[in-house]
Amino acid sequence: MNFFEYKNNELFCEDVPIAEIVRKTGTPVYIYSCKTLERHFNVFNDAFSTMPHLTCYSCKANSNGALLRVIGRLGGGVDIVSGGELFRALHANIPGKKIVFSGVGKTEEELRAAVKADILMINVESEEELSTLAGVAKRLKKIVPFSIRVNPQIDPKTHPYITTGLKKNKFGVLWDDAHALYKKALHEKYLMPVGISSHIGSQILELSPFVDAVRSLKGMVSQLAEDGVALTYIDIGGGLGITYKDELPPQPAEYARVIEEELRNTGLTVILEPGRVLVGNSGIFVTKILYIKNVPGKTFYIVDGAMNDLVRPSLYDAYHKIIPIKKQDKGKIMVDIVGPICESGDFLAKDREMPLLEKTELLAVMGAGAYGFSMSSNYNSRGRAAEVLVKGTEYHIIRTRETIQDLIKREVIPPFLEV
Ligand code: LLP
Repeated sequence: MNFFEYKNNELFCEDVPIAEIVRKTGTPVYIYSCKTLERHFNVFNDAFSTMPHLTCYSCKANSNGALLRVIGRLGGGVDIVSGGELFRALHANIPGKKIVFSGVGKTEEELRAAVKADILMINVESEEELSTLAGVAKRLKKIVPFSIRVNPQIDPKTHPYITTGLKKNKFGVLWDDAHALYKKALHEKYLMPVGISSHIGSQILELSPFVDAVRSLKGMVSQLAEDGVALTYIDIGGGLGITYKDELPPQPAEYARVIEEELRNTGLTVILEPGRVLVGNSGIFVTKILYIKNVPGKTFYIVDGAMNDLVRPSLYDAYHKIIPIKKQDKGKIMVDIVGPICESGDFLAKDREMPLLEKTELLAVMGAGAYGFSMSSNYNSRGRAAEVLVKGTEYHIIRTRETIQDLIKREVIPPFLEV
């Protein structure tokens, strides 16, 4: 359920007409619904209320500080994957003890910053990372809580680019190696094993891969207990899918129930790292039709939003529903909806049946809250879009549109090229 709806044939976000926001911000623009985000967080988090848990929003999905604050105020933590995300989480007043740090290539500097921030745990992804962390901990004279991200070798049956728990993937450590690492860490004065973690992939639409992963992690926790490694946290990552078109993902309550069944009486605290399921359908991307172009056998709606703004269709062939801001009944047409970027791969939709529209009309690309703005770039020297947060009858610009001056702000002209 979300709060993007037509009222009298005009698309609203909560109580604000999209067209009104666009009059202020221009296009392209990302628009998020605070009420939808709050609802998604609460539904997800409440589903786990029968067991000890911490919901750490995976902020790579959308790291805007306003959204992080919404999550933080509801009691959520954050899953980070870089020093930049650590900075953002702390800046949004997320307590260190509600932050977990995943990622295969954390630099020594990033590890140091995380240790200094006293985060809940660092999810270590290799033997070398563990020894780097041991060195950092020793130098800072701090006992560092960590988990090892294991690769449970489970096929989540999702897009190959967003599958992470197979043997061929770069993520995590195979169990035998992880087992040895935990035992080795027992001798490290400054390392404290507190958890085990995994993340098997994203946009997962079935429960069984999650059950298999949790069951396998639970088995590892018992084996470790026998070896004297007592863990508190089981971090099962994110990955719960959402509806973009006609997918029927499990509801958070069903997801929580199967996990609860696996973990009942284990005494473990479950850590969850949902990204897409919280923000995906909390946001839309609004773009304007610049031109309508006909070539033999094809019509293009050429819009002002492009792959630099929303790369998912180009990168994963992802489907996003696209609807007009003003609903109308002038007939239908098959079109490709394409951006201005000089690449044939720059499209938002291909062979899509759309209403017959005219130049300057606005379109909403739905389900754009996750991996939309956060994956945007300046390709073709296009400034990044503005972002807006709607709350009831109010709306606030939470990131201004990048200007052309922003594009060259960090460039330095060497003296020999100065006039
Ligand atoms: N935890 C870890 C360690 C992750 O790597 C990810 C996502 C998540 C949690 C959150 O997963 P989610 O709940 O959002 O599925 N750019 C792709 C998705 C990449 C996901 C990367 N890792 C897309 O647009 O579909």
